[in-house]
Amino acid sequence: MTEIPEHLLKRAQAAKAKAAGEEADTGSGDAVPAAASTPAAPAAPSAPTPVADAAPAPVAPYVAAAHARRKIPWWAAGTLMLLPIWAIAYVGTLERPPEQTTGVLATGSHVFEARCASCHGATGGGGSGYALADGEVLATFPTAAAHILWVATGSDVVGLGNPYGDQARGRIVEGGMPAWGDVLTVEEIIGVVLHERARLSGSTDDADLAQAIDDAVHLGELDLQGHLDPTTVTVDEIQELLDSVADGGH
Ligand code: HEC
Repeated sequence: MTEIPEHLLKRAQAAKAKAAGEEADTGSGDAVPAAASTPAAPAAPSAPTPVADAAPAPVAPYVAAAHARRKIPWWAAGTLMLLPIWAIAYVGTLERPPEQTTGVLATGSHVFEARCASCHGATGGGGSGYALADGEVLATFPTAAAHILWVATGSDVVGLGNPYGDQARGRIVEGGMPAWGDVLTVEEIIGVVLHERARLSGSTDDADLAQAIDDAVHLGELDLQGHLDPTTVTVDEIQELLDSVADGGH
């Protein structure tokens, strides 16, 4: 280091003394602490010095690491790297349910559970009402239109003791089937009928019809929000509706 020449130090001391002299009347109080702080200053660093020397030995590595740590911890970094995977999985859960819980068959299965299972069994195996599963209902109603008409009108419209369904089947009304036309929407009735035919009885034609209906509804070509009036609806009307879906879809 360059040494400060003696004469410069003297000049500085003289200047300081002159300044102190000028401020003697007003600022002597300030000048004294200022002078006192100068010798105190070396004392302050001298105290931490032994501590700084002693510190590295007793401080455990993890304590030092904790003090030094200011970045993202390693475990958080791992978590952050998993974030894209989580995001993809999360989006996946958002997109899957709509495929399973919408559409006319999904509506139909809910309606069946709520309105029909009590008499026909949870899987259509039968109860106080006939079995509908394993092709049984397809034998009674060869067409979806006739099946829809039956569910809309119930047994009252046909009348006690009268035949219903395919003649060869020989079914006679005994009077226990409610009419659903006023209760359920067209969508719900078509849904529950296609649920019975496609899912409970395994008809692929009716599964295709359900898909065509979903497509038509999705495209805005079909509105199934109204009701089928049990006292006036005819099988021809229903058949026409179903045909229009099949034509529009293909
Ligand atoms: C209160 C009991 C009961 C409920 C609820 C009920 N059904 Fe029925 N269902 C019957 C009875 C009883 C018959 C037989 C016809 C008759 O005697 O009236 C029948 C017959 C049927 C048949 C004809 C089966 C065949 O092969 O002869 C179909 C299809 C049917 N029901 C569908 C439905 C649907 C769809 C629902 C729900 C929306 C439903 N049922 C709710 C009692 C019920």
